Amino acid sequence: MTLILGIESSCDETAAALVTSTRDVLAHKLATQEVTHRPYGGVVPELAARAHVEVLVPLIEAALAEAGVSLNDVDAIAATAGPGLIGGVMVGLVTAKALCHAVGTPLVAVNHLEGHALSPRLADATLEYPYLLLLVSGGHCQLLRVMGVGRYQRLATTIDDAAGEAFDKTAKILGLGFPGGPAVERAAHAGNPKAVPLPRPLKGSDEPHFSFAGLKSAVLRAHQEQRYAVVDIAASFQAAVVDCLIDRTKRALDRSDDVTALVVAGGVAANKSIRAALEALAMARGVRFVAPPLWLCTDNAAMIGWAGVERFEAGLTDALDVPARPRWPLDPDAEKARGAGVKA
Ligand code: KG4
Ligand code: ZN
Repeated sequence: MTLILGIESSCDETAAALVTSTRDVLAHKLATQEVTHRPYGGVVPELAARAHVEVLVPLIEAALAEAGVSLNDVDAIAATAGPGLIGGVMVGLVTAKALCHAVGTPLVAVNHLEGHALSPRLADATLEYPYLLLLVSGGHCQLLRVMGVGRYQRLATTIDDAAGEAFDKTAKILGLGFPGGPAVERAAHAGNPKAVPLPRPLKGSDEPHFSFAGLKSAVLRAHQEQRYAVVDIAASFQAAVVDCLIDRTKRALDRSDDVTALVVAGGVAANKSIRAALEALAMARGVRFVAPPLWLCTDNAAMIGWAGVERFEAGLTDALDVPARPRWPLDPDAEKARGAGVKA
């Protein structure tokens, strides 16, 4: 059995977990910085990095204590090495390097996106490669064919905003608070999804890419018109996102007939309407639908620990001079999406 200490610090969650190759999460300790960033309506990188410094070591100690193991018992330490806010990534990675050096344990530098991509395999032992992954988070919106550890084919990305970013910006426009996704989902629950006519950017286009900037602008205009209830705008926005995600995922499924399952991961996968629509699509296409439990969808250290298990068992460890990377595509060979801005 392999035992891995996983560390996550790439955005506004600091977390440490102990994960085994038998899929047991022996401990998971997480501190969220929501309260720190709420007054600003978004994550402030410098504040995030400082908060990671303050809580990471106590979280690691607490996780080890809860699991009843010591650092000498772990086979490797896996830390997010990117992509993400560089200050935060460095806090987690440098801490991992120091611990690895101190106890003579191998380091596994994990791509945060690979953490999300492999997390469904921690939750479901029967999920086999290849599968189609819809990765929807605050910073990313991608469709990937996951063929194995470190083997990803990016079929689509966003040409502007990520889906979670669209939720967060919509929440800000509508005054619903931070973080935006859960707030918009709650408001949408009380609204009419057909009340406000909103666009479905790129729906029907040939390549399965995404775009959400136009939708966000339309939300802003609808709000400024002062004709619609906030809950109706929220519900109509969420319906438009669901429509776009489903249409684009259909297009990607058309291009990946070898996949055994449709899998969703990333923070936006916590959204119940999105999960339900994807599940219905998978059923209609005759493929399995797999979604990790909600706590594994948002940022956490168990998914980093699990990616660490898969990489370690594949013989993939890293030297202690491995760099922290603010950008780190899972599929470096993917072509840039036509019309994409700098973020893609
Ligand atoms: O994966 P994640 O925790 O962090 C990133 O790596 O980005 O995703 C966070 C994103 C945020 O944009 C948040 O608003 C969104 O996931 N999110 C949701 C929901 N819960 C979180 N979006 C829609 N509905 C939700 N229930
Ligand atoms: Zn994430």
